[in-house]
Amino acid sequence: MKAVVITEPGAPKVLQVQERAIPAPEAGQLLVRVHAAGINRPDVAQRKGNYPPPVGAPIDIPGLEIAGTVEACGEGVERWKAGDAVCALLPGGGYAEYAVVDARHCLPVPQGWSFEEAASLPETVFTVWHNVFQRGALQPGETFLVHGGSSGIGITAIQLAKAWGATVYATAGTEEKCRACEELGANRCLNYKTQDFAEELKADGVDVVLDMIGGEYIPKNLSLLKPDGRLVFINAMQGAQGQFDVRQVMQKRLIITGSTLRPRSADFKAALAAEVGQHVWPNLGNGKFKPVLYTTFDLADAAQAHALMESSGHIGKIVLKVSRD
Ligand SMILES: NC(=O)c1ccc[n+]([C@@H]2O[C@H](COP(=O)([O-])OP(=O)(O)OC[C@H]3O[C@@H](n4cnc5c(N)ncnc54)[C@H](OP(=O)(O)O)[C@@H]3O)[C@@H](O)[C@H]2O)c1
Repeated sequence: MKAVVITEPGAPKVLQVQERAIPAPEAGQLLVRVHAAGINRPDVAQRKGNYPPPVGAPIDIPGLEIAGTVEACGEGVERWKAGDAVCALLPGGGYAEYAVVDARHCLPVPQGWSFEEAASLPETVFTVWHNVFQRGALQPGETFLVHGGSSGIGITAIQLAKAWGATVYATAGTEEKCRACEELGANRCLNYKTQDFAEELKADGVDVVLDMIGGEYIPKNLSLLKPDGRLVFINAMQGAQGQFDVRQVMQKRLIITGSTLRPRSADFKAALAAEVGQHVWPNLGNGKFKPVLYTTFDLADAAQAHALMESSGHIGKIVLKVSRD
């Protein structure tokens, strides 16, 4: 099979197509013929050598989410059969014509969605569900702020929080991105290049912040949080160090938390998939959540896809199409 391999740590051009053996599904796994694979920022970090795959994941093939058809089932798999259309979360190996996945980490391709649209879901939906709704415990009627509103994570967080009945604020780096976030349901999106989000939102305050920026956003996020507010980190693209006033945390009884999805156990991801299937999947066909596919590239053009992601020129998701010939 053809697979996109990280030949050495470095720039997008280190991503090259190589021939690899088709993997065999072990007990509890599915072999999936991949039709589309989503691109995520953690893939870029892996390509640069900054985010090694967890034990057991393919060492040099990136790709955390796929959609395709089940080719074969390992021993003990009852829920799926050959020919089923699934999308799946995986710890690596998605940029390839075939991938093996834990059968419990699969969900059906939503009715009426293309494989490319379905491949844009697992990594962001699982991450947002866990961090915003499980860790952040966002409640209907509360106020939510997501930074990077036009990112794959951002467009997912905006739509799920809105569908959950929250007031939603976002930040993004251009007016066009801000309008896109508002069209997706954000009550207000602030252009962080021309506006200070902490000043703009301080009169309202927020209950939950989902932050991927860190750095100087840390004290600003904490200043905005209402009593009993929650700050959830999923990355720190501007810097992992930040200063804040501990008294704010005590006086407002704030919770600071965060997580990384990829290294979590297979059992944890299985439980998360079950919750996502119960709470999110029913909303995928009713207009409350739509795919935001910015563009697709052929598998062989994965380097171009990474270059686009690093330019931050996209709004929503970038997906690789894998040939079905
Ligand atoms: N912890 C986890 O389990 C987990 C899982 C998946 C992803 N993540 C993280 O979540 C983030 C988003 O991932 P993705 O795949 O959706 O990536 P992505 O689409 O490339 O998004 C990155 C976004 O960051 C925005 N950004 C950069 N600097 C900003 C700033 N100062 N203020 C506000 N926005 C800013 C960029 O938009 P502008 O052009 O507007 O700057 C861009 O939209 C990444 O940091 C990724 O590592 C974490």
